[in-house]
Amino acid sequence: MRVVRTVAQLREALEYMRQGGHTPIGFVPTMGYLHEGHASLLRRAGEMSSTVVMSIFVNPLQFGPNEDFASYPRDEARDLELAEREGADIVFIPSVEEMYPQPIRTKVSVSSLTTQLCGASRPGHFDGVTTVVSKLFNIVQPDYAFFGLKDAQQVAVLRRMVSDLNMNVEIIACPIVRENDGLALSSRNVYLSAQERSQALVLSRSLQSVRKAMEEGEVRTVDEARNLLVSVISSSPLAVIDYAEILTFPDLEPLDGSSLLTDADGEVIMALAVKFGRTRLIDNNVFIPK
Ligand code: PAJ
Repeated sequence: MRVVRTVAQLREALEYMRQGGHTPIGFVPTMGYLHEGHASLLRRAGEMSSTVVMSIFVNPLQFGPNEDFASYPRDEARDLELAEREGADIVFIPSVEEMYPQPIRTKVSVSSLTTQLCGASRPGHFDGVTTVVSKLFNIVQPDYAFFGLKDAQQVAVLRRMVSDLNMNVEIIACPIVRENDGLALSSRNVYLSAQERSQALVLSRSLQSVRKAMEEGEVRTVDEARNLLVSVISSSPLAVIDYAEILTFPDLEPLDGSSLLTDADGEVIMALAVKFGRTRLIDNNVFIPK
């Protein structure tokens, strides 16, 4: 495994791989503090690619002024062990100065899909994501790029960006990896106190409750489903709901509250963002109502 820190080094390493015929190239962008969710992306990339590139870059552009950019957890040594173990061939770890040597005057921005859910709570966040991912795609020029459905809105936004701008890369969406008790893995889970950690289980539990209630015919409409989500989450005293919404996926259009879920055309997403103390957690479930 090669670790590179500059764009020039990375381009040179990739040129060498391409010349040796080690294609297709699979790319896994991350912000580090790697866990089993990131590992699952690396493994999927390894199944589909001859060269696996991972980036580790905490991107200041996607953090709001009152968010956790400075305190975002970092552990390069441990990340490199995981990357090596899970088969990364090249790890790109640029500094902020390397990625943004001058004030950035060009931004990539996807409209409409970014105004709801996390886009509403985190203004500018998705512009930061689409801008850095565009830069990374231009640098790596991967055949495939792997993203987790943990951040389902991110997947929807990036798919649209790639399609709208004819980027020559295929986005591969990978399933959410969870702890045994259902909590979706996240680098931010380390912020949780023991009490918050145990109450955070209401996220996955509320999603499961709705799926089960739908199967049993107890929940039929969009409003009923949303009300059940909110009532299960509210059973946890520490939970402060940022949003609990049910929308079409991947277009993220609202659904009429009184309509039957089964009337939705294609996939829907139940998406949650809930704060426990200073930690904001997200979770979701994408499914076709039957
Ligand atoms: P980060 O939060 O580090 O996540 C990197 C990738 O890992 C994302 O595609 C995310 O969806 C995926 N991931 C995180 N937790 C997961 C889980 N429990 N199961 C499956 N996949 C999971 O997302 C970002 O970084 C950044 O926005 C980035 C795309 C790198 C741009 O800066």
